[in-house]
Amino acid sequence: MSADVISVPIDVYRFDPAQDRAPRYQRYTLDLPRHTPVLSALLKIRTDLDPSLSLRYSCRSSICGSCAMVINSKSRLACQTPVGPEVERYGRIVIDPMRNLPVLRDLVVEMAPFWGRYRKLEPHLIPDPNHPMPEGRENPMTPAEVERFKTTPRCIACGSCYSACPAVEHDPEFPGPMALAKLYRFVVDPRDGAHQDRLVRIQAEGLWLCLRCHLCTESCPKEVAPSERIRDLKEMAIAVQGATEHGSRHAVGFKDNIRDRGLLNELKLVRQTYNPLEALAQLPQGLKIARKKPETLRGPRTIEGQAEVEALYEALDDPKEAP
Ligand code: SF4
Ligand code: SF4
Ligand code: FES
Repeated sequence: MSADVISVPIDVYRFDPAQDRAPRYQRYTLDLPRHTPVLSALLKIRTDLDPSLSLRYSCRSSICGSCAMVINSKSRLACQTPVGPEVERYGRIVIDPMRNLPVLRDLVVEMAPFWGRYRKLEPHLIPDPNHPMPEGRENPMTPAEVERFKTTPRCIACGSCYSACPAVEHDPEFPGPMALAKLYRFVVDPRDGAHQDRLVRIQAEGLWLCLRCHLCTESCPKEVAPSERIRDLKEMAIAVQGATEHGSRHAVGFKDNIRDRGLLNELKLVRQTYNPLEALAQLPQGLKIARKKPETLRGPRTIEGQAEVEALYEALDDPKEAP
């Protein structure tokens, strides 16, 4: 065996709903050059060892987005993930289908829920009736206008971010990171006539269900950075409509708390986030937190160095300092 060739143990998720009562993992072991992509390893398994293995792929070069799957617990593209570093780090490669989508067979999932949430956001240009598109001519943008959404057209709709997202897992109302990144693209497009409507609608349609965990950005093979675009949407939505949802009221309250005293005042934050009836419903949770962290019940305090916190806020609020 050449020095570059290693033994690669691969545990592949197998499930055929037509004949299996439960999913299982099947072990295959191959000798492969360490730079071999996981996708090529799976295709070798299918050609040489087990033609019944189902998976989806097309371009084999990180372009089509078809081969997204969960490799050693991370959602990513199989054609972009070499086997060597995986085996060196984990001792084997465990392959699962994408999360948050129903399994059709083995590594093939049903993508309809992913596209359904995406379509709901009207991810296309809605022309502004006051500024009709010039007939038969281009409707150009300036380089600065294009710069505002330059990362979002890189998206190849692979669904890795959707698979990695805990908000998608927990809430059927959450549109998903890719859909929100695409929405951002139209919100900042000067040719779109529905900016404000889109921002108002999305506040009530799940924007604030995002947990800010950044797993979508970590899993994106094209550096679209969906969590950062979601952050931008949140800021723009508050600027257009104010804080109308629990999530936005919580965010604004959090910011004000830190600005005022450098510390979070949990009781005040509950009052800022919920109306009195809703706040009452939070009482059992509040008592649980207070038992674990009695300091949350102390009155307002201000940290040492509060002047520095205020200076930071001033710098952040100064448009000249904006990124
Ligand atoms: S940052 Fe938001 S959208 Fe991205 S994975 Fe976390 S919860 Fe999902
Ligand atoms: S945002 Fe990134 S991870 Fe999500 S679908 Fe697009 S390319 Fe894939
Ligand atoms: S096969 Fe096209 S992105 Fe992997």
